[in-house]
This record gives sequence, C-alpha cells and structure tokens, in this order.
Amino acid sequence: MSLASQDPVRAALDAAIRAPSPHNSQPWRFRVCGDRIDVVLDGDRILKVADPEGREARLACGAAILNVRLALRAAGRVPVEELMPRRDAPEHLATVRLGGWRPATTDDLALARAIGYRRSNRRAFTSREVPVWVRQALVRAAAEEGADLVVVHDAGRLAELEVLVREAERLQAEDPAFQEEVRRWTATDPSREDGVPAAVVGRGPEWPYDRRPLVAVLVSGADTRLEQVRAGQALQRVLLRATTAGVSVSFVSEPVEIPLLRAAVGRLAAVPGSPQVVLRFGYGFAAPATRRRPVSAVTRYTGGG
Ligand SMILES: Cc1cc2nc3c(=O)[nH]c(=O)nc-3n(C[C@H](O)[C@H](O)[C@H](O)COP(=O)(O)O)c2cc1C
Repeated sequence: MSLASQDPVRAALDAAIRAPSPHNSQPWRFRVCGDRIDVVLDGDRILKVADPEGREARLACGAAILNVRLALRAAGRVPVEELMPRRDAPEHLATVRLGGWRPATTDDLALARAIGYRRSNRRAFTSREVPVWVRQALVRAAAEEGADLVVVHDAGRLAELEVLVREAERLQAEDPAFQEEVRRWTATDPSREDGVPAAVVGRGPEWPYDRRPLVAVLVSGADTRLEQVRAGQALQRVLLRATTAGVSVSFVSEPVEIPLLRAAVGRLAAVPGSPQVVLRFGYGFAAPATRRRPVSAVTRYTGGG
C-alpha cells in the first residue's frame, strides 16, 4: 500500500479495507462523491448469530473510519469527520471530507504505515512482558478516541476473566448455529477474499496463552450505535499503536458476545460504560495476512465534486 504517491481518496479507501472485522466479514461499503467518503454498514455481512445487533460490525466500520482519517493525515490533509450524520439512515455511519492541508506528523505517518502490516495474531506469545511505557501508550491511544482501555492487572481478576472466557467458549461450542456461522466464515478456498483462512485460525493457544499475558478490556461510555462506531476508532488506534511498538494483539471476543457474560466483563473492568472487546497483547511471531475484497468491489463512485 503506497500512501504518498496516490490520490488521497484512493489511499483512504486502500487503508479502510485493511481494517479488522469479526471473521474477516468486512461489513462495509463506501460511497465516494468528489472529496467526500461515506462509510456505510453492510447489513448483509453482520454475523447473525455472534453479533445479532451489529455491534461488532460497527466496531469494524469504526476501525475502517480511523484508517480513512489516518491515510488522509498521511497525505497531508485534515479529515473532517461527521459520525452518523443521518437519523433516517442508521447504516450510514460516517462521512469523512478532505479538509485543508496540514503536514503529517511523524506519528501520523507511523500509524498510517502500520495499517498495512497490522495483523491479528492468535498464536502464543513469548514470555517477554509488555513494558509499562507501551501499556501507557495503548491506554492513551484509546483515550484519544474517547474510550477506556482497562488493563486487567491482578491475578484474581485475570482468573475471573478466564472463567468467563471458558464459559463463553462452552456455550458457543454447544450452539450449532454459532458453529455453522464459524464454518461459513472459515475460508478453505484460497481464492476467497473474505473469511478467515483455516491456517490462520489453527487450534489457537489455551488461555491464559502466555506466562505474562497483558489483557485489557476496551470500554466505551455508552452502548449506542454512535459510541460503538467511536469505540471502533479507539480499537483501531490501540491496535495500530501496538503494531508500531512491535506488540502483537489478538481478540478474545467470546465473553462480550454473550449478554450475561458481557455484563460480568463490565463489572470486572470496574469502570462506567460498556465493554466492547477484550484484547491480549504480547510479543509474538509474525502472523499471516488475511485477504480483503478489493476497493472496487466495495465502493460506489457518484458524480459531483
Ligand atoms: C469486533 C471484532 C471482534 C473480533 N473477535 C475475534 C475473536 O473473538 N477471535 C479471533 O480470533 N479474532 C477476532 N477478531 C479478529 C478478526 O478475525 C480479524 O480482524 C480478521 O480475520 C482480519 O484479520 P486481521 O485482523 O489480521 O487483518 C475480531 C475482530 C473484530 C474487529
């Protein structure tokens, strides 16, 4: 992905499609009109079993929106963002316009570059501990986008979280509809441009995965659709910040996908608000890339300027 040589709108779209999404479902569409990019939720790609309300799909779109903003910054433009601009069209999640010119900072450039090599890494991490300065940078990254990243420090709380993860895994393993959905989104055909390749999923390590896991819960202020889109931006800023620091991340979404357990995760995080994702950070070995549908397949260009 080249950021410098391209038209900024094209660079923004190339960045947007690299966002993470549950089962790599890529639940987004884009409409481009001159200098304006609309980000639209693709309701057909919401995971009906794991994510019936579309909450995780909105997180994914939020991540795509942050990528748009960062790519525009890297191109020296100021992104002007309006979230959920239309009450009558709840699937229209954001409009981002190209504002004036302002040189990109080195940090903007570093985060924008990280979009292309960020990966979800489900493998076991090494025993190397994530240093305090990185932890603080991750917490700040979430705060910059209006969310709380709550690190689960003490062993007692980690053990409680483990119980919730195991319970969620058990419930999902016993749910044939859930299993069927996982199968549907497991890409066995290598030419498929969505879904998670079977080789990437693997068996996965067992909780707590690592000797010194850094586990954190991303918490949004409320659980409105708007806050979910904002939390997706916070999520992506955290993931990219970790990537620039050489830290690997994986998602542990199971307990937040089940309402009762999600409430328990919220109590455990012990800050006001709604838990959106649980993340595990550490030092890992390179994880393979997943594919994306091309920009042309998800973008509609309409006339005007
Ligand atoms: C809201 C959300 C929830 C996710 N939950 C999980 C999860 O529970 N387990 C998992 O292994 N990956 C999870 N993922 C990661 C996706 O599978 C991953 O983003 C997708 O396959 C694309 O791969 P990439 O992140 O390496 O680009 C989640 C991603 C998002 C955005």
